[in-house]
Amino acid sequence: MSAQLPALSIREMTTMNEKIKVALIYGSIREGRYCDIVAKWTCSQIRARDGYTLDIVDPATLSLSPPLERGVNPDLEDLRERLEQADAFIIVTPEYNHGYPAPLKHLIDSVNKEWQAKPVAFVSYGGVSGGLRAVEQLRQVFVEVHATTMRNSVSFANAWEQFDERGNLYAPVRAEKSMEMMLAQLSWWASALKDARNSIPYSIVAT
Ligand SMILES: Cc1cc2nc3c(=O)[nH]c(=O)nc-3n(C[C@H](O)[C@H](O)[C@H](O)COP(=O)(O)O)c2cc1C
Repeated sequence: MSAQLPALSIREMTTMNEKIKVALIYGSIREGRYCDIVAKWTCSQIRARDGYTLDIVDPATLSLSPPLERGVNPDLEDLRERLEQADAFIIVTPEYNHGYPAPLKHLIDSVNKEWQAKPVAFVSYGGVSGGLRAVEQLRQVFVEVHATTMRNSVSFANAWEQFDERGNLYAPVRAEKSMEMMLAQLSWWASALKDARNSIPYSIVAT
């Protein structure tokens, strides 16, 4: 079912006075990855709107140790700090064998409380399924770390047929509408959960 956005902007609807800090996380680390094109489009959509700051988290640039390994890992500490700062997350992920890529799972498992009581949205791509099977799996994973996932997502089926060589969409209207709805939901949850976290620390109910 499609929904019309209310006349009030999402900024006016929420109590968030500061910009929403979005961490955009790459799902693929493959050399020559299509993720660069989809993430670039996603960033351009966010930057075209007021009210967001953007931190791009690329697991290809991080050297993460196995989860729970002892010792100091500067990249892990850096990741922890950046995710802690974020009010909301957008995962840009392809589909690999009906799931999501292993490096993304490694990144998710590397931290824990940084995800808690925060919203997560998805931009996915792949073949006929547009990466939606990867997204459905990620929903199961994120509930375990006490994050909440957005109902609406953006997905690109046969993505390589949808973007031109400069990374622009041939037919942008549908994807831009999907992005609008997804960002509206992400903003609502980011604002609501930030207020809630500030009011009652989530740690008292996290297990
Ligand atoms: C190991 C592997 C498995 C894949 N499995 C699927 C799949 O199950 N469904 C799908 O739609 N595309 C699948 N693909 C195609 C990818 O979605 C496509 O190659 C995409 O561009 C990969 O993202 P990346 O280039 O950013 O790494 C697979 C690709 C790889 C490398």
